[in-house]
Amino acid sequence: MTEPILRVEHLVKHFREGRHTIHAVNDVSFEVYPGEAVAVVGESGSGKSTMARCIIRLERPTAGRIVFNGEDITHHSARQMRPARRMLQMVFQDTHESLNPLFSVRRILREPLILHGLNHDKTQILGALEKVKLDQNHLGRRPHQLSGGQKQRVGMARAMITRPQFVVLDEPTASLDMSLRLQTLNLLRELQRELNMAYLFISHDLSTVRHLCDRVLVMYLGRIVEAGRVEDVFDHPRHVYTQALLSAIPIPDPTIQRQRLLLSGETPSTRQLKPGCGLQDRCPHVSAECRVPIPFYKVSDGHVAACRLAKPPIIEEKL
Ligand SMILES: Nc1ncnc2c1ncn2[C@@H]1O[C@H](COP(=O)(O)OP(=O)(O)OP(=O)(O)O)[C@@H](O)[C@H]1O
Ligand SMILES: [Mg+2]
Repeated sequence: MTEPILRVEHLVKHFREGRHTIHAVNDVSFEVYPGEAVAVVGESGSGKSTMARCIIRLERPTAGRIVFNGEDITHHSARQMRPARRMLQMVFQDTHESLNPLFSVRRILREPLILHGLNHDKTQILGALEKVKLDQNHLGRRPHQLSGGQKQRVGMARAMITRPQFVVLDEPTASLDMSLRLQTLNLLRELQRELNMAYLFISHDLSTVRHLCDRVLVMYLGRIVEAGRVEDVFDHPRHVYTQALLSAIPIPDPTIQRQRLLLSGETPSTRQLKPGCGLQDRCPHVSAECRVPIPFYKVSDGHVAACRLAKPPIIEEKL
């Protein structure tokens, strides 16, 4: 059995905000295997980026464990993280926070190679630029002289230049037009094959997730509510939240019937988290068992949902 490249165990991340606590990530556990593409979906504020930042140790987890390549990195300092960092990269949702505004593209790409003692001659840098379809005229530019899409691609080139085994991509295609989006997705597939690279792909673009990823984690209010192979979860969603999320996208296959499902009310605040299902005040199927912690029910191999509707039926034994 292959070992997972990443293991996240009971990850919790809370932020203090004055007298309040923001429950951004609440007991999330999952594994990613080498070469696997795992998507994270869920509405804005569901904790996707916070979880990602904890995984690559830009944030200190409040509780839980992060194991990368067999090494517990949960409490690593920046210096302790350095060897792992080469193999564990991230492409950020917001390039403003990630590209040093004072550095040229050349320097942005050279920096990680130097840091990790890798060959940093011009061919390496040009190769990385070419992979993201940027020509060498961009080498001397600084981030403010690039478009949003170009910055996004520089961020991607920088993350890939150390040939990592695992990359977290937070909305990597959000500021790209359709043709660049497709190129980027092809690049990801290529790297996945070439380096057996695994990635965590955070996205609101459910059709891209469907085409690109092997597995999907659905998050709501800082918890995973459903997980499984993309086909299983997308074609047979069992959690009411997943059903609502998916019912917003058109279905290309007319043989699949899906009811449009609209949830009532608003997503509750992450300041007051109730025990039980996050959807308990919005779900048309709510019952008493939704107000206590919900276990994951197995729907099929590798497909689980934290919803009483996914509970296997009780088969009454005949006496
Ligand atoms: N540094 C911080 N301090 C306080 N609260 C934070 C901080 N970072 C995130 N949060 C809060 O944590 C919750 C989760 O935010 P997060 O950015 O992880 O969501 P997201 O799923 O990535 O959303 P989006 O799809 O909009 O990117 C939100 O309520 C957010 O306001
Ligand atoms: Mg985010």
